[in-house]
Amino acid sequence: MLILGIESSCDETAAAVLADGKILLADVVNSQIDIHAPYGGVVPELASRQHIRNISYVVDTALKEADLTLDQIDGLAVTEGPGLIGCLLIGHTFAKTLSLVRKIPMVGVDHLTGHLLSIFLADENPAFPYIAMVASGGHSSIFLVEGSERFKLLGRTRDDAAGEAFDKVAKLLDLGYPGGPIIGKLAKGGDPEAIDFPRAWLGHDDLDFSFSGLKTAVVNYVNQRKKKHLALNIADLCASFQEAIVDVVTTKTLRAASRTGCRDIVLAGGVGANQRLRESMLQRGGAENKNVFLTPERFCTDNAAMIALAGYLKFKDNAEICPDSDVYSRSIFS
Ligand code: KG4
Ligand code: ZN
Repeated sequence: MLILGIESSCDETAAAVLADGKILLADVVNSQIDIHAPYGGVVPELASRQHIRNISYVVDTALKEADLTLDQIDGLAVTEGPGLIGCLLIGHTFAKTLSLVRKIPMVGVDHLTGHLLSIFLADENPAFPYIAMVASGGHSSIFLVEGSERFKLLGRTRDDAAGEAFDKVAKLLDLGYPGGPIIGKLAKGGDPEAIDFPRAWLGHDDLDFSFSGLKTAVVNYVNQRKKKHLALNIADLCASFQEAIVDVVTTKTLRAASRTGCRDIVLAGGVGANQRLRESMLQRGGAENKNVFLTPERFCTDNAAMIALAGYLKFKDNAEICPDSDVYSRSIFS
């Protein structure tokens, strides 16, 4: 079964072709980083306009890469939410139009579901049920994944997402956008114990996250150093800030695994590409006898391959093809 996946929920216009849920024939991601970098974050209207410019070309390129024509596609899978409405509408309307005009069945896919299942694009896969930590620019959530369509939310951020914290701190320090990869690189030369930044545990068995206090602690630290005319050690600052996030994310993910009795743990989402977090998950998960599955880096950040995969699983489960599928901005999990 050949699935064409389309993703446009934020600042990546992406299309992918997946055969039988396993063989990736094409995976095209057009990133808008250059457009949003001067603003230190995604500007929704600019993102929508860029999706309009890109969508047709990106889908065309994916089909060419796969050496296929639309007539050979068995199903369309498109992100329907959560995300920026103006952005979602472009990919969604594009897919819906293809579906109606070319009579190709279409399913709407939840973006988070895509991240939760993206590990099945890797060679080694977990067994259900597993714990999945999705840390991205929009979400920091822990799920119990019981099946390809059964997800239980165990914990989520009460304020900023982990990636959002990386991006905001990078903006404060004038390091560039997106902040995650930049801070990750700078942190390599620093001491993670140089500055004792706070960890918001929110109670000893809580699985929720809160990163806004950490961000404020960084602001206060920088302001105090400036007031005293003391230099900033950016590498130490990045390493200590990163460690605070890595510590909380790893601890809570392992806590969720031990509470649910799951042996398999998955790390996904853009922040899942962070080297220190990957290392920490493997180390601490291994010490607790867990099987840690790291989503390949290229599938951590937004892509359409994970949407095609989640769509394929829906088709396989005989999901109802929903012609009135619509977009939504907020997460459907609560
Ligand atoms: O999953 P994603 O591409 O988009 C959302 O669904 O939000 O995640 C993007 C986020 C950004 O905040 C970016 O700074 C962060 O993931 N990110 C990283 C790394 N690569 C991307 N954060 C930490 N370390 C990285 N290597
Ligand atoms: Zn995402």
